[in-house]
Amino acid sequence: MSIQDTFPWTEKYRPKILDNVIGQKHILPRLKSYVSKKTLPNMLFAGPPGVGKTCCAIAIAREIFGNTFNQDFLELNASDERGINVVRGAIKDFSRTLPLGANFKIIFLDEADALTTDAQQALRRTMEKYTGTVRFILNANYSSKLISPIQSRCSLFKFRPLLKEDILEGLNKIIISENLDMSSEAKDALFDVCEGDMRTATNYLQAASSVDKKISVETIYEVSNSAQPKDVITMIEKCLNGNFLEARKFLENMIFEQGLSGEDIINQIYKKLISMSEDKIDISTKIQIIDKIAEINFRLVEGANDRIQLEALLAQIIFIASKKGD
Ligand SMILES: Nc1ncnc2c1ncn2[C@@H]1O[C@H](COP(=O)(O)OP(=O)(O)OP(=O)(O)O)[C@@H](O)[C@H]1O
Ligand SMILES: [Mg+2]
Repeated sequence: MSIQDTFPWTEKYRPKILDNVIGQKHILPRLKSYVSKKTLPNMLFAGPPGVGKTCCAIAIAREIFGNTFNQDFLELNASDERGINVVRGAIKDFSRTLPLGANFKIIFLDEADALTTDAQQALRRTMEKYTGTVRFILNANYSSKLISPIQSRCSLFKFRPLLKEDILEGLNKIIISENLDMSSEAKDALFDVCEGDMRTATNYLQAASSVDKKISVETIYEVSNSAQPKDVITMIEKCLNGNFLEARKFLENMIFEQGLSGEDIINQIYKKLISMSEDKIDISTKIQIIDKIAEINFRLVEGANDRIQLEALLAQIIFIASKKGD
């Protein structure tokens, strides 16, 4: 096996220029216009994981700086355990020399929402000090975790989970380039488990491809540690029909045969329940079950026994369904 075979596809297929970033159509035109004018405000990229925030930050810097990218671009991680002082030190060292490729340098600060409030205050002063020659791109999963003085110093860009067509576009590129054979059902399954996160989709695809170049629906659920949706739906339906023993068989299969964790299973029960139509389950039953799911999810997170808690959930679903119309 060569290094190329084990190299993570998320890096291999990371877009190098903004034109290759998929989705995020509400954001890209503004970013492209900054690049073409070689001007940049301080920016805050917020949004869920794996949707292109880091990709865009690096692509912007590459396009603006070209050959001087390595001298003019600095990537730092705010959650660095050595603390904000190390981050500030690095910013200071980096800002000492003049920019080469434009009239500013770019500092990309990942996980800015991991900074404590005190550290954010310190960062705010640092940002102010270097406004002449440095532009900051802050990256956060939750923009609300940043203090308002920092938010107000940045243009906010809200990245969204990628749409199905975007994920499929990204996957198709990899599928062609890696010579994979993947049915549209398997692609649907991969979209189902990745939840708009292209990093996760790419990682699952790579894991599945190491089993076989022909990628099946089953392999996707296997590598993503998910139960087959049809099993989860059948399990819920068995409960709605009052059949505890049958429903429990599905649960046992998920826990013991497939080795799924309680939290994985309860998340899937929740997702499938939400998407069940009114003719299968009326809204009042659904609401009561969601309430129970929340309670049992909490117990699972607190470390209670997976099997007992999930069996209790099945019992509760039966109980709620049987009371319907009473
Ligand atoms: N919009 C996108 N277009 C193309 N590829 C993408 C996109 N978003 C994510 N990817 C793929 O996923 C990988 C991770 O993306 P990226 O590093 O930009 O995520 P992120 O949004 O910064 O997530 P995090 O919040 O976890 O840092 C990329 O290397 C790329 O392979
Ligand atoms: Mg990132």
